[in-house]
Amino acid sequence: MTSHLKKVELHCHLEGAAPPELTLAQARKYNIDISAYLKDGAYVWHDFASFLECYDKISEVYKTAEDYALLTETYLAELADIGTIYSELIVSPDHGKRIGLGADAYIEGVCEGIRRAKAVSGIEARLIVTGERHFGPESVIGAAEYAAKAGNPLITGFNLAGEERMGRVADYARAFDIARDAGFGLTIHAGEVCGAFSVADALDAVRPARIGHGVRAIEDADLIKRLADLGTVLEVCPGSNIALKVFPDFQSHPVRALKQAGVRVTISSDDPPFFHTSLEREYELASDVFGFSDAEIDEMTRTGIEAAFVDEATRQALFARL
Ligand code: ADE
Ligand code: ZN
Repeated sequence: MTSHLKKVELHCHLEGAAPPELTLAQARKYNIDISAYLKDGAYVWHDFASFLECYDKISEVYKTAEDYALLTETYLAELADIGTIYSELIVSPDHGKRIGLGADAYIEGVCEGIRRAKAVSGIEARLIVTGERHFGPESVIGAAEYAAKAGNPLITGFNLAGEERMGRVADYARAFDIARDAGFGLTIHAGEVCGAFSVADALDAVRPARIGHGVRAIEDADLIKRLADLGTVLEVCPGSNIALKVFPDFQSHPVRALKQAGVRVTISSDDPPFFHTSLEREYELASDVFGFSDAEIDEMTRTGIEAAFVDEATRQALFARL
């Protein structure tokens, strides 16, 4: 039972959190056929590439700023209901451009959703703008430039997501220079689909404060020590890793081994309905399957607040609520 614990989530893709019922209602509203991607209340995909395709198709039924406000408010309300005090949402202004809404209207809709959710429950949230590897370095640079120019106080981080097998982190380093200069916290998806080398790549080329997943660092003892020494925080999403077959089962998942080796870890849900999970379930797994005590789970939540991309006053306010 973890319902009594306060929670923090650092790694969740906004469109990846879209409840299937809401997606279906949106598809009906716009008369879009998504039957190949959403069947019997569940998203349909079979491997990492088809997951990314499904994710992009599903995202297309969210079209207006109000659609994004509703999606954001809905997810944050769900988080607040289970005792979550802080959420970082991974967003893609590029996606807003691709669907013809425009990056500004996309972000404005998301921010409106954050304001509405905060007014009801007090949940604090920030945005991490992401570039997608599979759209290439120029598009990732564009995302960083957009975020840097936006001057939006709720955008506090920059990420690299998408097809990890495309290119090396060094190809995207320029985007991270722009993001770093703009004062954003940096995090990179690595060591999820690709092995330990990909995490080492991220440290060599960018050295972000956090790594999305990073769990395949377990394949390299020297790298584990490097992560522990640097204090790099891993945003670990066990349910996602099992759904995507990064590991065959929870028994083989390295979250406990990483924590025991001194690596700073936090728990998140990634794209919850796509992976038949939720932040609530991830906390339950931490307790029931990985056998972490309440004190250990609280320690991971504290790590989440320490590593949150927020100003110091907000960080202290979050600690006070824990
Ligand atoms: N985009 C959405 N979810 C993702 C994941 N788990 N890995 C990489 N890119 C993603
Ligand atoms: Zn992710």
